[in-house]
Amino acid sequence: MKPPKGAGRIERKLWLKINDSNIPSHVAIIMDGNGRWAKKRGLSRIKGHKAGIKAIENALDSALHLGVKVITVYAFSTENWIRPEYEVSVLMTLLFQFLKLQKKKLMNKNIRLSVIGDRSKLPRIVNKEIDRVLVETRHNNALIFNIALNYGGRDDILNAVKQLLDKNLEKDDINEDLFSYYLYTKGIPDPDLLIRTSGEVRVSNFLLWQIAYAELYFTDVLWPDFDTIEMLKAIIEYQKRERRYGGTGGI
Ligand code: FPP
Repeated sequence: MKPPKGAGRIERKLWLKINDSNIPSHVAIIMDGNGRWAKKRGLSRIKGHKAGIKAIENALDSALHLGVKVITVYAFSTENWIRPEYEVSVLMTLLFQFLKLQKKKLMNKNIRLSVIGDRSKLPRIVNKEIDRVLVETRHNNALIFNIALNYGGRDDILNAVKQLLDKNLEKDDINEDLFSYYLYTKGIPDPDLLIRTSGEVRVSNFLLWQIAYAELYFTDVLWPDFDTIEMLKAIIEYQKRERRYGGTGGI
């Protein structure tokens, strides 16, 4: 793929290795390691999260150039509420500020916001800002920026089951397509690639149903250090994999 203007030498080399005809449509990311990144530098965890936000912006820019259609980031899980109250409140404030700042940038870059997860527990002010950005960006179509907030894969599945129970359906009416319709990710294709940073090799309750056939990519790089070069390495690794979806792949 043709490198973007201003790319450095190493980055250019990697762009040239990318096969334009095998770009993952949906990349999901477990952004882990903000705290360790900050600790290594003697900084507060909050500074780590701020650096993590910069890495999100960078991931969006790389995704746009690559032609990825959806980026989903795990920003706050259903389990993250057990973090110290102060950290939770700062994360919510950062999220609020991020949304306010991003509105214009998302419009300029033709990116549509989407949010998955149980929004009922988020602060009102955050929900209001989310609604504003959702409405404003709803016609953008270069990339969907999907943020998982108070999201849990098990919660997603249970929530779908509860909605289905209300529908008085016959057993045989229920199939995978119908079930997917009741998940938070309704209308969004399943991830082709799941990236987790910081060396942890777990899926941590993220998109459990949706990653059934995703390629998994784990890297030791901490999320704030996950730059364009790291994204390109992940895509190159993805392009080396042979996806068989349970078939033989002709072997
Ligand atoms: C993991 O780092 C990251 C998170 C808990 C969430 C990611 C949040 C951000 C990037 C900032 C806020 C997000 C938005 C969309 C504004 P960690 O704290 O678990 O790191 P550690 O495992 O090294 O402690």
